Amino acid sequence: LHLLTVMTAFQKATVQRRASTLAEHYYTSTDIFRQEIQRIFSNHWLCVGRSEQIADTGDYFLIDIGAENLIILRDTAGITRAFFNVCRHRGTRLCTKAQGHFVETIQCPYHAWTYSLEGQLQAARQMQQVKGFTTKDYPLYACALHEWEGLLWVNLAPNPAPFAQTFAPLLSRFAPWGIANLRQVHQIEYSVHANWKLIFQNYSESYHGTVRSQLTRLASAQNGARNGAQSGRSNLVEGAFLGSHQDDRSIGSITGEPQHPTLPGIRGENRYRVYYYSLFPTLLLSLHPNYVITHQVFPQGAEQTRVVCEWLFDPSTQSDPNFDPSDAIDFWDLTNRQNWRLYELTQQGIGSRAYNPEPYTPEPYTPEPHTQSEGLLAAFDQEYLRVMGA
Ligand code: FES
Repeated sequence: LHLLTVMTAFQKATVQRRASTLAEHYYTSTDIFRQEIQRIFSNHWLCVGRSEQIADTGDYFLIDIGAENLIILRDTAGITRAFFNVCRHRGTRLCTKAQGHFVETIQCPYHAWTYSLEGQLQAARQMQQVKGFTTKDYPLYACALHEWEGLLWVNLAPNPAPFAQTFAPLLSRFAPWGIANLRQVHQIEYSVHANWKLIFQNYSESYHGTVRSQLTRLASAQNGARNGAQSGRSNLVEGAFLGSHQDDRSIGSITGEPQHPTLPGIRGENRYRVYYYSLFPTLLLSLHPNYVITHQVFPQGAEQTRVVCEWLFDPSTQSDPNFDPSDAIDFWDLTNRQNWRLYELTQQGIGSRAYNPEPYTPEPYTPEPHTQSEGLLAAFDQEYLRVMGA
């Protein structure tokens, strides 16, 4: 078994003087959670899935955002659309199966009002007797949807800021990985008994810390001997999008050795580098030289979060008869589960009367080389509190 030999560290992001962890109620209060639904999840662009999930006309999936439920589908022209899952007659939820396929229309289970895949009302029994009623006045209510890098983004706001404007700092940043061309080879859905912010805050800090610690201990006899990795850097350190990277090509395989060909667009230093981006408030993006991981984060309540993790590989790699992604799946699944456990313990501790906001450290919290400062956590908190008006 080959193991990691030289652990790398992110360059520390700045910690503002006096920056401290958030108060307990931000992690436990149902009132705060309601405010988050209003201030964050009802007017930000949210990543809800991938275009390949609805590859064919009529394919759909449902997504919950607070009290809202959306139907994400592909229409007869091949366009992806999002509709509120609400009948225009008496408000009945039109569809309850989490994913599936509509054959040409969407029909309400109550009185059979029938809608096209473009959301137009096509048939409404008995309504011709209602004076002035015309079906064209009763389309499904649409929700803004944008496709970028093969990812589907929705925004519940009636007049959202243009996606291209909001995401201007990122629009071409991920082009080398060709994310839209990658295909999912595996998905795991996790239910985490912790507040969604703990998952975001800790992602950039030491996401690989636990699993890498194990590998480090096992490899201690060889430490410093082999791969010549270099320190990484934080490259987006404030605002809604935070990012870091590590120069270590061995990251991302449970064996400590890269198992798959480099993605076609990857050149130069990116062949040895792994990038980690958090895109407030629902997506964590991990860019390896040879595959990509997405974590979609869906808050279910103040203390409960659903996380969907997907492994994306290039189709040419997948077509190799010897293709086996288990090294990447095992690495990230182990990393995920170890981190969820830590976040759940943190959630439990934050709920105690003994918890108080305490200062973040500008220095790595242990001498182990995979750890870094807490600057990105402070940056997340700053953006979060700004959006919350706190
Ligand atoms: S509520 Fe949908 S048809 Fe009546």
